[in-house]
Amino acid sequence: MLIREATAADWPHIWPFWHRIVAAGETYAWDPDTPEADARSLWMNPAKRVYVAEDGTGTGSTVVASAYLTPNYGGGAARIANAGFMVDPDRAGRGTGRALAEYVLDAARADGYRAMVFNAVVETNPAVRLWTSLGFTVLGTVPDAFDHPRHGRVGLHIMHRAL
Ligand SMILES: CC(C)(COP(=O)(O)OP(=O)(O)OC[C@H]1O[C@@H](n2cnc3c(N)ncnc32)[C@H](O)[C@@H]1OP(=O)(O)O)[C@@H](O)C(=O)NCCC(=O)NCCS
Repeated sequence: MLIREATAADWPHIWPFWHRIVAAGETYAWDPDTPEADARSLWMNPAKRVYVAEDGTGTGSTVVASAYLTPNYGGGAARIANAGFMVDPDRAGRGTGRALAEYVLDAARADGYRAMVFNAVVETNPAVRLWTSLGFTVLGTVPDAFDHPRHGRVGLHIMHRAL
């Protein structure tokens, strides 16, 4: 698997799984009906570094995941990073999310970030276990914040890891 910075040409390959994940309404606090143009502005925002993971080589390669890295705050706190991760649900559970997260943590460190914060991790998301195994801790939980389509009202964790 190759992990590299994304280009504008990658967006049409990211959008199908981006849409599937957000439309499911289980993991991101974004409108499940987010139109494609808004999704592109949100994810491929020039203020963010965007990465993709590719399976295969050359013309036979497929974009299977994407991540972004951006400052979580401004001014004196601009060295605290935020990141987001999406793996194509058809390719989940094969180590892609872990590899991409390790890559982005290294990239954040190389860019001079001192820590990474996730602002809204749905507490029922299996990703909580992944983030914990990568050294993140739950700083606190916004109770009853997220209407989950299967679990009802659940909390949103704020998670942190020093770099
Ligand atoms: C969370 C996500 C990025 C993980 O990517 P992935 O490629 O499926 O994860 P990996 O195969 O690298 O697995 C990482 C670990 O998480 C655990 N895990 C991931 N998804 C899981 C699931 N659905 N159920 C149980 N465990 C899961 C695995 O046990 C694994 O642990 P291991 O490395 O010790 O075996 C991916 O499932 C995804 O895009 N989910 C939807 C969007 C999302 O939730 N993003 C994160 C928002 S905070």
